[in-house]
Amino acid sequence: MSSGGGPVNVLLIGGGGREHALAWRLKQSPRLGRLFVTDPQNPGLAELGTPVDVPVDFRQPFRLQRFCDKNSIGLVVIGPEDPLALGLADALAAPGRVVFGPSAAAARLEADKAWCKQLIRNASVPTAESRIFTDPEAARFYVESRVLADEPALSKLVEASRTIRDSSDRRRFMSQQIAADPALAAVYAKRHDDLPVIKASGLAKGKGVVLPSTLGEALDAIERIMVKLEFDEAGRTVVIEERLEGSEVSVLCLVDGRNIYVLEPCQDHKRLGDGDTGPNTGGMGVICPGGIMGQGDDSLLNQIQAEIIVPTVDAMRREGIEFRGVLYAGVMLTPAGPKLLEFNVRFGDPECQALMVRLESDILDLMLATGTRTLDEADMRWSTDRVCCIVLASGGYPGRYKTGVPIGGLDAAGKVPGVVVFHAGTKRDNEGRVVTSGGRVLNVVGRGVSMAEARRAAYQAADLINFEGKTLRRDIGAAAG
Ligand code: AMP
Ligand code: GLY
Repeated sequence: MSSGGGPVNVLLIGGGGREHALAWRLKQSPRLGRLFVTDPQNPGLAELGTPVDVPVDFRQPFRLQRFCDKNSIGLVVIGPEDPLALGLADALAAPGRVVFGPSAAAARLEADKAWCKQLIRNASVPTAESRIFTDPEAARFYVESRVLADEPALSKLVEASRTIRDSSDRRRFMSQQIAADPALAAVYAKRHDDLPVIKASGLAKGKGVVLPSTLGEALDAIERIMVKLEFDEAGRTVVIEERLEGSEVSVLCLVDGRNIYVLEPCQDHKRLGDGDTGPNTGGMGVICPGGIMGQGDDSLLNQIQAEIIVPTVDAMRREGIEFRGVLYAGVMLTPAGPKLLEFNVRFGDPECQALMVRLESDILDLMLATGTRTLDEADMRWSTDRVCCIVLASGGYPGRYKTGVPIGGLDAAGKVPGVVVFHAGTKRDNEGRVVTSGGRVLNVVGRGVSMAEARRAAYQAADLINFEGKTLRRDIGAAAG
C-alpha cells in the first residue's frame, strides 16, 4: 500500500545510469517490499530488481497496468522523459498506487518546448528571447536576416531569391549561387558568435539543440530538423532563440503540485572535452554540491526559485495542470541575472547519480510524499560529503561508436573506498561478460569530506576500469577544490 508503514512494492521504469542509481537508493529503504524493473539488460538493475514478466510497450500500458495490479505495486517510479510524455504516469495511477513522475499534460514542459516558452513568457519567467517556427523557409529567412546587415553579398543574394516562390527551388538557386561564388561561400562558413540557438520543439533524446557557429551550420540544422525530420515529428516545430552567455547550473526540485523542495545544487559538464571544449553531450560528469551555487550562499538559489520555479508551477496550476515529480530547470547565469534555458520533467542523468549518493533521507518516502502532496511533511537530509561523478563514454561518443566492447576492472573499481559504479550503457553478452551497449557506458561516483578527496576516489576507480575507446574528462571537480 502507498500509505502507512508497511512494505511497498515498487516498479521502476527505465534502464540507464539514472535508474541504476535510483534502484540502488531504493534498495536501502527499510520500507521497500519487492523491486521490479523494466530493463534487466542493464546488469546493475538485473542485480537489484526482478524483471517484469510482461512485454514493456509504453504505447500499450494495459499490460503494465495489469502487472501493477497483480503484484500490488504501491509506487511506480518513471525515470526517463519519453514514457512520461506518452502519459504512462496517467495510465498507471490507481487508488492505493502512487506514481512518481508527472502527467502527460505536465510533461509538456519538456516535450513541447514551444508550448513551454509561451507558458513561461506569460508568467514573466526570465528566459532567452525566442521565436517559434513551423515553416522552414521562414526559419531560414529569420536566421539569415541576423547576419544580412553585415554581409552585403548575402543580402543581394537573398533579395534576388525573394521572387522564387517555391521553397525547394529557392534553396536550389541559393546553393548554386553559393557554389559559384567563393565570396558567398565564405559568408556561410564565417564564424559568428551571436547566431541564435535552434531547438526541435519535441523530444529528441537530448540531441535536438544546435548551437551553430556559422550560418551554414544554422541553415543545415534547420534542414535536418524541419525538412529531413531527423527527429521525426519532434522537429516539425522549432524554437529559435537568442544565445545566452554565462555559466550554466542545473536546479532540480521535487514538486508535489503545491510544495517545492529544491534539491542540492549540482553542476553538470556538458561538453565532451576538458576545459569545456568539444561537442555537447548528455553530460560527462557532475559535482554535487556544484558550481557557483554550491558555495553555501543560498541567495542565487532563492532567486531562481522565486523567479523561475514558483511562477512556472503557479502558471501550470492556472492552466489546470498539477506538476508532481522532479522539475529540473537548466539555468544560465547571465550578466542580467539567471535565465531559464529549459525544463526537464525528470531527474538529470548523471545529476541523479550524484544526488542519490549524497541523499541521506529515504528516497522511497520522498517519492511517496511527492506523489501524495505531502512533501511539506517529508524529511530531507543530505550528507555533508562532496560527490564527484565521472562518466566513462565509448570512443566516438557523441558521434558514432562501437558497442559490444568488453569491460574489465569493474570489481576492482567498486572496491575503492567511497566509490559506487553505476551501469549506464552496458549489458551482458552471450558469455556473461559485461560489454558496452551505449554512448555513456558507466558512471563512477566518488565521495569524500572534500571535493579533492571525492575526485581522487572517483578517478582512482575510473582508471581501474578499462575498455577499448574509454573516453572521460579529467577535470570533473578540479576547479571545486
Ligand atoms: P538541452 O539538451 O535542451 O538541455 O540543451 C542543451 C544545451 O544547449 C544546454 O544545456 C545549453 O548548454 C545549451 N543551450 C540551450 N539553449 C541555449 C541558449 N539559449 N543559449 C546558450 N546555450 C543554450
Ligand atoms: N544531464 C542533463 C540531462 O539529463 O538532461
